[in-house]
Amino acid sequence: MTNIIETEELTKYYGFLFWKRNEPALSRLTIKIPEGSVFGFLGPNGAGKTTTIKLVMDLIRPTEGSVKVFGRSPDDMEVKKMLGFLPDCPAFSSYLSAYDFLNICAKLLKIPPSERRKKIYEVLCIVKMEKHAKSKVGGFSRGMIQRIGIAQAILNNPKLLVLDEPLVGLDPHGRQDLKDIITSQKDKGTTVFFSSHILSDVEKICDRIGILNKGILLCSGRIDELLSVTGIRAHINPGRDEIAKELMEHASGTIKLPNGGWELVFQNNNQAESLINSALEKSPGAIAITPTRESLEEFFFRKVENSSGIQ
Ligand SMILES: Nc1ncnc2c1ncn2[C@@H]1O[C@H](COP(=O)(O)OP(=O)(O)OP(=O)(O)O)[C@@H](O)[C@H]1O
Ligand SMILES: [Mg+2]
Repeated sequence: MTNIIETEELTKYYGFLFWKRNEPALSRLTIKIPEGSVFGFLGPNGAGKTTTIKLVMDLIRPTEGSVKVFGRSPDDMEVKKMLGFLPDCPAFSSYLSAYDFLNICAKLLKIPPSERRKKIYEVLCIVKMEKHAKSKVGGFSRGMIQRIGIAQAILNNPKLLVLDEPLVGLDPHGRQDLKDIITSQKDKGTTVFFSSHILSDVEKICDRIGILNKGILLCSGRIDELLSVTGIRAHINPGRDEIAKELMEHASGTIKLPNGGWELVFQNNNQAESLINSALEKSPGAIAITPTRESLEEFFFRKVENSSGIQ
């Protein structure tokens, strides 16, 4: 598997005096982000997420350690051509229209003049801002500016999309639109690396996450492997009420399904497994089981609280 971003002991101190070093904003971050993944970067305020993103984007330089993007140094022009970026507080010239702003971006990205108009309207439609193409950015709301920022980030069909807090300022429709945009970028093979505090959205769209606290990486990996299994969910086929009744008294949750079947939730895996296995021996195929997992929110608080002793 190719890694699109790879950091090795990446460390950043923001300025220091000879006799006293500040705490590092980022400390020995070693992380790999494979091609085609949607990676959510999480952590409390001041954890070091924006610092990491700036290092990846070559906006600041590491104090120690290294970062590679597409296997190269992030200051390589070939790397920059493959990137799309949304900064944490996008701000654009207020006197420009949305179209004019994107036209400047298209020129900088060297999109041929004959293709610019089509491409700009294509991205404006993706972020649902085509009706505001001729309106001045200065009159836009926070969410509208965020949408224009996302439009410029995807203008050059990036192979890596880096978004710092892209969900900030978006209403529920905007958040859904952004989730759809990220999913469609992933479907095109784009790798997405973004930071966010909205854990429920991260859980839905990411396949991988990393959690930072006080500049230290607490964990990273596939989301389905990180979240602990907390129990079992059993679906009992319609017409098998006798099985449901037998298992019901051990279940922590019971739902009668519209199709006449039952959904039972068990917290105690071992007991539930042996009960379900003996029911399945008598009636093979009558029950389908899936593991239930803790939510990303539960996992996040568990990890961050456990690390509160880290200095
Ligand atoms: N330009 C700077 N000069 C000095 N210190 C800075 C600078 N930028 C960030 N820091 C410090 O580095 C640490 C990490 O900040 P960073 O912006 O990377 O956090 P973050 O995880 O993005 O937080 P948030 O969720 O609030 O956006 C913080 O302690 C912050 O005060
Ligand atoms: Mg930040």
